Amino acid sequence: FFQAEDGIRYLVRSRGLGDVYKRQGKGVIIATSIEVATNAINDMLEGNRFGEAGSRVVIEEFLVGEEASFIVMVDGNNILPMATSQDHKARDNGDKGPNTGGMGAYSPAPVVTDLVYKNAMEKVIRPTVDAMKSEGMPYTGFLYAGLMIDQNENVKVLEYNCRFGDPETQPIMMRLQSNLANLCLMGANGSLSNAIAEWDSRSSLGVVMAAKGYPHSYQKGDVISLPESSSSAKVFHAGTVLEKEQILSNGGRVLCATALGKDLKDAQDRAYKLVNKVKWRGSYSRTDGGEASMCLNGIRCAASYVWRNNFAPKKSITFKTKNRHVLCEPFKNQVKALLEIPSPYIDTKLHSKLSKLISDKFDLVDAGNMHLCIKSPSIKKKDLDSIYKNLEKLIK
Ligand code: GLY
Repeated sequence: FFQAEDGIRYLVRSRGLGDVYKRQGKGVIIATSIEVATNAINDMLEGNRFGEAGSRVVIEEFLVGEEASFIVMVDGNNILPMATSQDHKARDNGDKGPNTGGMGAYSPAPVVTDLVYKNAMEKVIRPTVDAMKSEGMPYTGFLYAGLMIDQNENVKVLEYNCRFGDPETQPIMMRLQSNLANLCLMGANGSLSNAIAEWDSRSSLGVVMAAKGYPHSYQKGDVISLPESSSSAKVFHAGTVLEKEQILSNGGRVLCATALGKDLKDAQDRAYKLVNKVKWRGSYSRTDGGEASMCLNGIRCAASYVWRNNFAPKKSITFKTKNRHVLCEPFKNQVKALLEIPSPYIDTKLHSKLSKLISDKFDLVDAGNMHLCIKSPSIKKKDLDSIYKNLEKLIK
């Protein structure tokens, strides 16, 4: 470790506090320099800060990137991938507050590009399934890999779960057009090689309605009244109980209001409409489900593209305004960046200002009211920086 370079972040954790770390928590120190790491190790081993649990330490690379859930069905040998998804673990808006099992999720996950998908299947899922089989313990069931995806679209496993994932299941199920029971049966029979899962091409987003106070102490037994469900908007139950024909809250994460939409934004609008129709006084939800991620995914996607091409912006690019839906994505081969601005968030005046700002510097290959697409094989970091800066000012 002492030959390790400064500047790389390490994660130092006490061995006894669980083998799978979940972000920074008890017994986990994110060391930003060798000095911090050394102090943490001394503190754990000599200072006995974590008691017996800290008598052995583990040093790991601190992983940076975007998390996604990669969930598949396995029949011991064959693998049937589910639609891609991502959840938000933090309880409060803006990814703040304590960690939870998930306060919302959506599918598909924009961060899971074709390359990420290929990497996840070939480097993570297939070897895991093969290894379990060769060790005489073939795995049958849902396999959930929590992945960290870096800017080069490499994937690393944060955790494995033997479940479908909550709340990822809800948006995934809204998109599943095949019969889940049949797929499970094929999984159990070892015949998943013949299985095909059909997916609705629309996006889906679920907002978890939790009991106020969750994940700390919370009240149970509140009366809940639910709106009608439809094939494109459903409230899933998680922590409820039926008593004398009344639905009562009976857990921390109680409901998940989930809707399909033509894109993630539309699914988000529809899911929140559904949340607003639920009558339950003790509920708590994030009000930005999917939103930051939609924005950040786009931005990160662009940023990672930029990184791969050595533009290396120093700070992450985020637009923290109410018009935060500025998505930047690489687009086809000849186009270096796409700025996509869903029209409900932008008026024509602002749109024409943005078009001008961008077309002054680049060839606009497409300028619909939803997006501005630039062709720029020789795009420079300073041009991008200035565009991002001006965009930020304009949309404030
Ligand atoms: N949503 C995270 C999980 O199911 O583990």
